Parts: sequence; structure tokens; C-alpha cells
Amino acid sequence: MVWDNLYASAFERVRGNISNAGRVLLAYNTNIDAVKYLERKDLEKRVESAGKDEVLRYADGLPKRIENIPQLLGSILWSIKRGKAAELFVESCSTRFYMRQWGWDELRMGGQVGIMANLLGGVYGVPVIAHVPQLSGLQASLFKDGPIYVPKVESGKLKLVHPKEFAGDEENCIHHIYEFPRGFTVFDLEAPRENRFIGSADDYNSNVYVRPEFRERFEEIVESVELAIISGLQALTKENYREPLEIVEEHLKVLNEKGIPAHLEFAFTPDETVRKAILDLLGKFWSVGLNEVELASVMEVMGEKGLAEKLLSHDPVDPVAVTEAMLKLAEKTGVKRIHFHTYGYYLALTDYKGEFVRDALLFSALAAAAKAKLGDVSSIDDIVKAMDVPVNEKVKAVEDALSKEYGMKDGIAEVNSYQLAFVPTKIVAKPKSTVGIGDTISSSAFVGEFALRRGKTF
Ligand code: AMP
Ligand code: GLC
Repeated sequence: MVWDNLYASAFERVRGNISNAGRVLLAYNTNIDAVKYLERKDLEKRVESAGKDEVLRYADGLPKRIENIPQLLGSILWSIKRGKAAELFVESCSTRFYMRQWGWDELRMGGQVGIMANLLGGVYGVPVIAHVPQLSGLQASLFKDGPIYVPKVESGKLKLVHPKEFAGDEENCIHHIYEFPRGFTVFDLEAPRENRFIGSADDYNSNVYVRPEFRERFEEIVESVELAIISGLQALTKENYREPLEIVEEHLKVLNEKGIPAHLEFAFTPDETVRKAILDLLGKFWSVGLNEVELASVMEVMGEKGLAEKLLSHDPVDPVAVTEAMLKLAEKTGVKRIHFHTYGYYLALTDYKGEFVRDALLFSALAAAAKAKLGDVSSIDDIVKAMDVPVNEKVKAVEDALSKEYGMKDGIAEVNSYQLAFVPTKIVAKPKSTVGIGDTISSSAFVGEFALRRGKTF
């Protein structure tokens, strides 16, 4: 009941202030998602013919990248077995060909930038400038109408145009998404929850290819920008990370000089060297968003193996372990805001205080539930359609643990010198799809928070 009221008023406040958020820069990853809904018989047949024993090896430990078909199928089983998301770069041409032949059920906008551009620009009406590594006709057609812009240089002059007006004839960057519902069974494995495995057959986003416009005219591009969201660093490897991360660091320098808060959308980053390098950059960001697998992987490279294990061993994830991990991360890097999301609840640790942090989380949880329920959200008013989705009951224990440990009240507590904000989320029992929910959560919360801070009526 308390939460229903908090949800309703947070939604109204963010909706009323969303036009105050300012223009948002989104960089770097945009792609096309080819979504395949897995079928038991088909998958079992494929595993058998690829060699079941070989495939099952990878269901226990993910490879670094996909070099053959057993690795692809094994990685899909790894995700199903745990109900966890994972994404790997597909290196081999023959595996890419196999995936294309396997096919897909639908093509959708993909990549954090693409998904957030459609949500912020196409749904909330917040102007965005997006980095799209390759703008093919198909890629352009996946952008919604609205204040979504890409830079285009014509006769030496920089213009901002809608992707559909860019008229580029560049390559298609395709990611194969293998989705499964909760309870999906294959051999004796059963998915504890809905999720997906992603095989990215894409050389641009995987290498964080940065377009010449962004390398050469970045200062001009961000002239009118007030917020930035950075994503897409997850597929880098120890062989190729140096140059892209140098560019990211230069971009961050410009953003920081201009006082533009930047959020890093952390994603599953299999390479430890890259994860460490990203960790070293974290202090240059205002904010970071991650889930339990990602937070555990960060704890691992920080030498906190015990904490990493704890984060992955409870369901729902132990909120005290999450808070400890967030504190360690904030203290080590100086990042001002950490937004953790998991199935059932979100936490935000901030070095500043205010109910607007929690309210932005509530708004983002409603947006996530609307996305899960409707598949596609077409206007900000659609979000309210998720009000009737119940708050996750299992999370009562999480709330109790936070009250007991930190004296949390109405989702707010003080821990060391930080504020900890908590919200129980609304879980849609049979979501249309799970891809992009994390991006919806992180971008809605970050932009929603600034809309409230910059607005007059909260
Ligand atoms: P990510 O793994 O980063 O894409 O984020 C997925 C997030 O989506 C999870 O942490 C959950 O908070 C949220 N989520 C997943 N499934 C559902 C669902 N059925 N209903 C509402 N939220 C969901
Ligand atoms: C990653 C994937 C992309 C997917 C997105 C969803 O960026 O590469 O295919 O659309 O995550 O969050």
C-alpha cells in the first residue's frame, strides 16, 4: 500500500518534470537485435548434433568468445541453467553463418544507445544525440520518430539530423538474441527465470568503433548537451581495449570540463583486463548502473572473491552484501552514484541525499514493468499501465533486512556518509521479452533523477 502510493506520486512528479532533463548524449553502441525465441526440441536436436558432451562443458563455464558451434550452444545452456543473461562476441564466420541460418523471429532496435535513444527521445520526448557506429537503412528504420539526432558533417559543417534523414548506406551490425521464458526446459536443465543469451556477430560495436564525427568534432557535438550516458564497452578484450578506452577518456575529460554528468551503463564484461581498466575510469563518471552478475564481476577484479560469491548465491540477492559491495566500489573509485538493479528490487547508493533519488528509481521500475508487459512502450502515459502489476512479494524479506541493518524507512537510509535508496519492483509474470529492460531501468532512473533535480516541482 505504502509502495503503491509512492509509485503513483513518483510517476506524476517525473512525468511533470521530464522536460527539464536537458539534452542527453548517448554513446557508443547501437545495433540490430535479431531475436529468436528458443524451442526445446529444436535446441536439443542442435545440441545432440553438435556433440552433447562438448556442448555441456560450456554450460558449466563460459568461454571468453565464441569460436565454434558447441561453444555457442553451451553458452546458451549456461544462461538457461542459471536464468542469467550473458553476451559473447562471435568470432568465427562459420558460427555466424550457423546463427543466420538458424534465423530469428523478429528484428528490433538493439544496443544500449539505440534502445535508450528510442525510449528517451521517442517515448519521453527528451532530446538525444546518439552514436550509431554503422547507419544502414535497416538500422535507421528501427529508430522511432522524435527528437533523436545523429551528427552529420556536410561540406565541413556539423549538422544534427534524425537517423532516418542521415541517408547512410553503411553495414548491418547484427546481434543474435536467444530468449527463453521462466521454466524453459532443455534436457534436465530448467530456467529459474526468463532471460537471454546474446551472440554478437558485429565487428563495430564489439571493438567500440568510434565514428570520425565523434573523434573529430566531439566538443561541438556536446555543446548543447546536459547529460551523458556511456555504454558498450563490454565486448572489448585485452587485445583491443587500449585505443577505444583512450577515446572514452578524452570524451570524459571534455564532459567533465563542461560539467556534464556522465553515467556508465556497465554490462557483462567477460575480459578481466578490460573490467579492471573500466574500473580505473569509473571515478571520471558521475554514476554507474549494474546488475548482480556485473557487480559480482567487479568485486572479483577488486579482489573481493567472497563478496562476489555471496552476491550470486542468494535469491533474491542479499541486499546487505550488495550494499557492502557498493560501498567498496564507491570508496575505491569516488563515483557519486551507484544504481544496482536485480530481479525484484533496485538500490542506489549516492554521495548526496534526497527523496528524488528513490522517486527516480520508482519511475524507472514502472517503466521497466511497462516494457516487460507491453513489449514496446509508445508514450510516457503507457507507463502508468504498469501500476496494476503487483510489487514483488518475495522482496519483503529484502526490505526487512535493510530496515534491520540500516534503519531504512520508506526506502531511504543513511549508510556511512552515503544515502541508500531502495525500491521493490513490479515483476511481470510473463514478460514479452527481457532485452533492453536493464537499459530502460538505468536510463529512466538517471534521466528521471536529473529531471527532478532540475525541475521546480518536486
Ligand atoms: P539486465 O540484465 O541488465 O538487462 O537487467 C534486467 C533487469 O530487468 C533485471 O535486473 C530486473 O530488474 C528487470 N526485469 C527482468 N525481468 C523482469 C520482469 N519480468 N518484470 C519486470 N522487470 C524485470
Ligand atoms: C547489449 C547487446 C545488444 C542488446 C542490449 C540490450 O548492448 O549487445 O544486442 O540490445 O545489450 O541491453
